[in-house]
Amino acid sequence: MQSVLNYLTQNQDRFVAELCDYLRFASVSAQPQHKKDLLACAKWLLAHCRKIGLDARLCPTAGHPIVIAKTRRANNSAKPHFMVYGHYDVQPPEPLDLWKSPPFEPRIVGKNLFARGSTDNKGQNFAHLKAVEAYIKTGTPLPCDLTFVLEGEEEVGSKNLSTFLKAHRQELACEAIVVSDTGMPAPQHPALTYALRGIIAFEITLHGPARDLHSGIFGGAVENPAMALSQLLAKVRDENGRVKIPGFYNGVAPLSKYEREQIRRYPLSDAGLKKLIGAPQLFGEKGFTATEQRSSRPTFEINGLTSGYQGEGSKTIVPSWARAKVTCRLVPNQKPAHVRKIVCAWLKKNCPPSVRMEISAGHGAEAYLVSPTSKPAQAALCALEKAFGTKPILMREGGSIPIVNEFKKVLGADTLLLGIGLPDDNAHSPNEKFNLDCFVNGQRMSAFLWKELTR
Ligand code: BES
Ligand code: ZN
Repeated sequence: MQSVLNYLTQNQDRFVAELCDYLRFASVSAQPQHKKDLLACAKWLLAHCRKIGLDARLCPTAGHPIVIAKTRRANNSAKPHFMVYGHYDVQPPEPLDLWKSPPFEPRIVGKNLFARGSTDNKGQNFAHLKAVEAYIKTGTPLPCDLTFVLEGEEEVGSKNLSTFLKAHRQELACEAIVVSDTGMPAPQHPALTYALRGIIAFEITLHGPARDLHSGIFGGAVENPAMALSQLLAKVRDENGRVKIPGFYNGVAPLSKYEREQIRRYPLSDAGLKKLIGAPQLFGEKGFTATEQRSSRPTFEINGLTSGYQGEGSKTIVPSWARAKVTCRLVPNQKPAHVRKIVCAWLKKNCPPSVRMEISAGHGAEAYLVSPTSKPAQAALCALEKAFGTKPILMREGGSIPIVNEFKKVLGADTLLLGIGLPDDNAHSPNEKFNLDCFVNGQRMSAFLWKELTR
């Protein structure tokens, strides 16, 4: 083990330089113009996996390719098999003018590496690759077989990986899946995440007049779709932050006293949170703390709102249409298909006849909840403590990783969520970064993990 750890220490500069190469690909899965960049990124990963001694192949899908990389396995290996999952796609970097340096030109400032995808998720999955490299290059036998599954569609719902999983269930059968694509409260504060929220995504478009109209000539006699959409969306929530759509909270389990106590231990105060996000005030569902609201309660969130003229200066029109991009975060017991159905039915019912409503469905995933007391979870906690030198905390997180439910359904295996992102890493925001101490300790955690999991 010592030689593995030494190898990691001795090669950090190179690892950071390689991570920068990985980050230079503009692998934005949501934007079709980046298809080539995703392919180039996948090919780079493939070559990198081979260079560090893994058997790797590129698996084409209906969307972006999946990289599969394995430790060399003796035929009929009796070693336990684990999967490491990560994603090489990233969120759109827009708005570009808010970046202090271009999103795909990695820049190091002190302990931070700035680039789109640095924390979510390239830096995090790269830490696992480097730990395995250390085993291979020092000739230290791994106590288990490993398969890396690195996909290019996590940020758009992982639909094609789900298909791939079903077709390769035998090959991918494993004891557990390890995913570092979540967070931890602070650089010295590691965490095991045992719950994620689910999600449904959809777009609402309200169509009014057949084309944009002069608002002086026609305004007043025709519905304004932007106004109709605003009024409709305003009805979704009450002043206490509760969603008013009947049935929305059906089945949502109340938080137990024990869980509320655990959640209260999360070391970020409301004041700290307010400062971090830079809002004039915190706002959320009454009766719950901010940590509870963002980890364990369902939401209805407008992600984008578009209508009419967005350019400079004024343009006096009644817009022809208005659109909202919406996602709802879901918690255990909420079924995505059911919530989608009741939300869409409510929207249709409350749509005024002066506009025509169109709703297009996007991705969806159930929430995830796993026991933090299982044997693998306890092993993971040991690995975290050894790597970071402090006791990890248990937490529920509000983000979603759709594929982890499929891992459970298709492979019957639990996922260990061992994230090394920080709350101020700006995931999905301008100036995303990754803390290089987390990178180092993440590699160490991965190195310890395989021993702990096979004890
Ligand atoms: N890394 C996140 C998920 C995450 C973030 C989990 C923070 C826990 C805490 C992942 O890359 C992500 O952003 N997922 C999307 C999924 C969606 C597009 C289906 C999300 O949560 O919005
Ligand atoms: Zn993300």
